Amino acid sequence: MVKIIDGKQISKEIKDELKAEVAALKTQGKNVALAVIQVGEDPASSVYVNNKKKACEYIGIESLAFHLPETITEEELLQKIEELNQDEKVNGILVQLPLPKHIDEDKVIKTIVPEKDVDGFHPQSVGALSIGQKGFVSCTPAGVIQLLKRSGIEIAGKECVVIGRSNIVGKPMALLLLRENGTVTIAHSKTKDLKEIAKRADILVVAVGKPKMIDSSYIKEGAVVIDVGIHRDENNKLCGDVDYDDVVEHVSAITPVPGGVGPMTIAMLMHNCVSSIK
Ligand code: GUN
Repeated sequence: MVKIIDGKQISKEIKDELKAEVAALKTQGKNVALAVIQVGEDPASSVYVNNKKKACEYIGIESLAFHLPETITEEELLQKIEELNQDEKVNGILVQLPLPKHIDEDKVIKTIVPEKDVDGFHPQSVGALSIGQKGFVSCTPAGVIQLLKRSGIEIAGKECVVIGRSNIVGKPMALLLLRENGTVTIAHSKTKDLKEIAKRADILVVAVGKPKMIDSSYIKEGAVVIDVGIHRDENNKLCGDVDYDDVVEHVSAITPVPGGVGPMTIAMLMHNCVSSIK
């Protein structure tokens, strides 16, 4: 029988564990605080930032919100980050992306000190992950590992194929699966024979950014399929990169969209915030 991996439930479990940890930290006089910076009025960003604030509130993390105008200069933003870097009361700093075009995102990410880089986007965090050292891990791929582990899915020795090579998902995803002793292939838009490669996968992680692109012709019978995509289909219904209805009968486990990977990103952000104080 196919297992539908319930990201909502698993993220709730993680948030409840964190809530207990934060309460215990409070008894030791330790307070966890996350600074969230939003620049401009991008509606999707406002939704994400609001969800992050709500998750903080649920867990008992203090959230410090900085909503800066679209017209802010790069220099002013970097100065704000420097201030938060120095502020001992702040454990984590998150700058919601995307930023307005006149601001260099790479420069902004590099300005956050790695000790407060709860998004795991700083080159030092990414470098640490690639050589197996301690550091913050990008939240979405870290969430995928938790979904697999907490669903009892073994990674060690498995053929893992990641479709997508973004800095935020594909690359750290591949590194994390490798860290768990999977045999990892990274495929992408220029990959030849993508179907043949995808069909090798015991665990297929899809982060291509194309609605319903992956149908059953990409799937080995009994594979585990993790869908990182989120889109609106022609009927304005949420869907992923995987054609769920076509694939579901051929897999042993699959994440739905919504309610699969999505809720895990915030849970892992909260996890990073709590570990930033430890
Ligand atoms: N924009 C979309 N996803 C993310 C994320 O995980 N972190 C940040 N900072 N911005 C985002």
